[in-house]
Amino acid sequence: MSLLLNSSFTGASSACLLHRERSRRRRLQVPGVTCRQGSNDDRSDAARQKQSPVLLDRRDMLLGLGGLYGVAAGPKVLAAPIMPPDLSKCYDATAPALDNHCCPPYSGSETISEYGFPATPLRVRRPAHLVKDDQEYLDKYKEAVRRMKNLPADHPWNYYQQANIHCQYCDYAYYQQNTDDVPIQVHFSWIFLPWHRYYLHFYERILGKLIDDDTFTIPFWNWDTKDGMTFPAIFKDPSSPLYDPKRDPRHVKDGAILDLKYAYTENTASDSELIRENLCFIQKTFKHSLSLAELFMGDPVRAGEKENQEANGQLEVIHNAAHMWVGEPDGYKENMGDFSTAARDSVFFCHHCNVDRMWDTYRNLRGNQIEFQDNDWLDSTFLFHDENEQLVKVKIRDCLNPTKLRYTFEQVPLPWLGKINCLKTSETKSKATTELSLTRVGEFGTTPQALDASNPLRVIVARPKKNRKKKEKQEKVEVLQIKDIKVTTNDTARFDIYVAVPYGDLAGPDYGEFAGSYVRLAHRKKGSAGTEEQGPTKKGKLKLGITPLLEDMDAEDADKLVVTLVLRTGSVTVGGVSINLLQTDSTAAI
Ligand code: C2O
Repeated sequence: MSLLLNSSFTGASSACLLHRERSRRRRLQVPGVTCRQGSNDDRSDAARQKQSPVLLDRRDMLLGLGGLYGVAAGPKVLAAPIMPPDLSKCYDATAPALDNHCCPPYSGSETISEYGFPATPLRVRRPAHLVKDDQEYLDKYKEAVRRMKNLPADHPWNYYQQANIHCQYCDYAYYQQNTDDVPIQVHFSWIFLPWHRYYLHFYERILGKLIDDDTFTIPFWNWDTKDGMTFPAIFKDPSSPLYDPKRDPRHVKDGAILDLKYAYTENTASDSELIRENLCFIQKTFKHSLSLAELFMGDPVRAGEKENQEANGQLEVIHNAAHMWVGEPDGYKENMGDFSTAARDSVFFCHHCNVDRMWDTYRNLRGNQIEFQDNDWLDSTFLFHDENEQLVKVKIRDCLNPTKLRYTFEQVPLPWLGKINCLKTSETKSKATTELSLTRVGEFGTTPQALDASNPLRVIVARPKKNRKKKEKQEKVEVLQIKDIKVTTNDTARFDIYVAVPYGDLAGPDYGEFAGSYVRLAHRKKGSAGTEEQGPTKKGKLKLGITPLLEDMDAEDADKLVVTLVLRTGSVTVGGVSINLLQTDSTAAI
């Protein structure tokens, strides 16, 4: 495997609807009505019939304002980029574990300005495990966070106000403008990476401002390398402002290796095996999704959309495991294990700093090409408080190159790019048919199926084409797709996906090769009547690139594949499994 890097590389029912309306208008509680996910179908059915006109109105309105949004050609002419919320309308986004609402104080007269991109020195973000002996830096970092915690509780820079921003944008505090049932959600889509990039950018600059240091950076949790795969030591001292008591003690202790496939059960593999598995997961994620950005970054989400299923990219999937691994294992999984509380732990920003670095690395590996040439992505707009105490608006198109935001990453080795044996020992067909017990596998069919932790779902899936030529593979990537994924509780859910070559319509006892995972992090909120409520959750889908995996497995000439879904935690129903060919957007390969 070789790598060429350019010089810039651095490395409810109607009752529920009514209830929502009432509580929104009058801020009153309607006892006895809870709006759980099970009722969402009715809501979206009712909403479905009027969706087009709503979108059309919105589009007209946007055009009328002089902005030509969503100009990308094709069938999505009604679409538009996600716009910031109306800050005067922040709804009960209260995590059950929090004693306060996560809505920010609102003065009624916030002025929004254009962000003045900084012209300050280029800041270099460093790995957390390598700054632990840099006392001067650590003192600054701690002092900055201490000052942030000491700000008045209603100051937008206050540590907990900063943390609440994350709760607002994941726990449905805001609805998209001109809608009353489409929340703004910054996870499960192509918004995930850019939104979090800006969130960190402003957070980092505010910390720097508090200590009057325009070179200050937050460190990155370098979990993609062996020495960085333990919980970063700098966050462990109970007397430090960087400390958070709400973590899993088994994992923050010295020497515990992060498990990037963590699902609330301890991995019993040896340390070196776990490290290898982590590196393999990262390698596969890059390799399998390099030819199509949505596989890595998540699917499009556009203004006003209700029907479109949410799809994480695989980087977000990897990132979820660290959240789960750090947070408490029980109850509300505080702080890191639930979106509504995650950013209350300083390590959140350190973790996301590496997620951001992974995006930058992906981009470099693809020759810095723009991931989505789509104005609905590029013009999606967010609001943040900057380091000059201004409320500013920023667009995705302005954050694609970290240099414009005046930061970069210290170059460190990328061990997952090297040669690692990530395939399980492959059994030969003859061995399989003579020595292994084989079972018959059927197709998925049309009925949704509940996953069962003790009985993995195995289905046989036809491939659209076998033995494709190199050129065909460069033009289209083979993608394993799982649709209509419903997580039926508020809690975290995870399943892993394996693929194997069948023997006729028989499958061996082995699941085959790991292809990727679906993870949905807990993001529960408190309902108006004090009960736990799930937000207006959409169904999810999963897309995994499998072209390179099938090459590695030597499965090019298989007509069909056995796909195994292994439920690791939570309660999940899936609606279908298929393999399709999707147009690629890059010929980059590792
Ligand atoms: Cu907004 Cu790590 O999640």
